[in-house]
Amino acid sequence: MKRDFLAVTDFSKEEIYETFRIAKQLKADVKAGKEHHYFANETMSMVFAKPSLRTRVSFETGMVQFGGHALYLGPNDISIGKRESVKDISQVISRYNNWIMARLFKHEHMLEMAKYATVPVINGLTDYNHPCQIMADMLTIYEHHGKVEGQKVVFIGDGNNVCNSFLNFASVIPYHFVLAAPEGYDPDPETLAKAQAAGLSKIEVVRDPIEAAKNADVLYTDVWTSMGQEAERQKRLDDFDGFQINAGLLSHAKSDALVMHCLPAHYGEEITEDVLDGPNSVVFDEAENRMHAQKAVMVMLAKSGGADIKI
Ligand code: CP
Ligand code: NVA
Repeated sequence: MKRDFLAVTDFSKEEIYETFRIAKQLKADVKAGKEHHYFANETMSMVFAKPSLRTRVSFETGMVQFGGHALYLGPNDISIGKRESVKDISQVISRYNNWIMARLFKHEHMLEMAKYATVPVINGLTDYNHPCQIMADMLTIYEHHGKVEGQKVVFIGDGNNVCNSFLNFASVIPYHFVLAAPEGYDPDPETLAKAQAAGLSKIEVVRDPIEAAKNADVLYTDVWTSMGQEAERQKRLDDFDGFQINAGLLSHAKSDALVMHCLPAHYGEEITEDVLDGPNSVVFDEAENRMHAQKAVMVMLAKSGGADIKI
């Protein structure tokens, strides 16, 4: 049986911690020059309907480190849903490759891809969520603060795909998640309701970034205009005025607060350059951890599918 990773909630609490353990081991091994060709001669199609730096490079490099090969299929190569249906694309790729990683606009397309694929599908971002990002982010918090449970993570900005994945994580592992967003930029209501109903985490949606930042263990942000929303850019610049992570806002957080951003960053908009490059920032550890976390997710999926991997 193949297993997919389409949302953080696809993994149990125990599986998330096991993913972190494997990621840390894989990271240490990469740094020690130790190779694990768990997926020797296997191939992955990476389907991108949107641009990417981290997701593409981390998956492609990770696949090579596993002894396999990844193929990049860019927005103009397949034209998902236009040149060919999602159903046909996923069935065709499944005949060539052992893995599919996809970055798509519509989340329904991701679900459809997983439904028709006979190989594991990994979600590399949709308009709805970004689970690989949150696995890397939480791994980064775990490494720097020694725990994720009970951490106060304050997301300043848009209740977007990254924010929805933080809420999904809150349904599985208890922590304190606060979104400070302007009116009209709340997260997906169903995802918020589910995370609250799970009753594990303290979850708040507030309008005042300064109040939110008080006592924060993590200050997190993402772009105000996500991929696909470019036409709204000016309105968003106006609406998010005051929702910037800068030295002033950071001064309200705990002194050892981590500054995080999934990147790409727009300096002077959601974050200032001095803070992103400052002593509290772990932004590049976070970016690096994309690769280690995703490789661990792959190991977890392969083991669920019966692969005999001992790590
Ligand atoms: N954070 C992230 O997903 O980066 P890319 O869009 O560059 O892949
Ligand atoms: N919210 C951003 C994340 C980029 C990694 C976007 O969807 O463009």
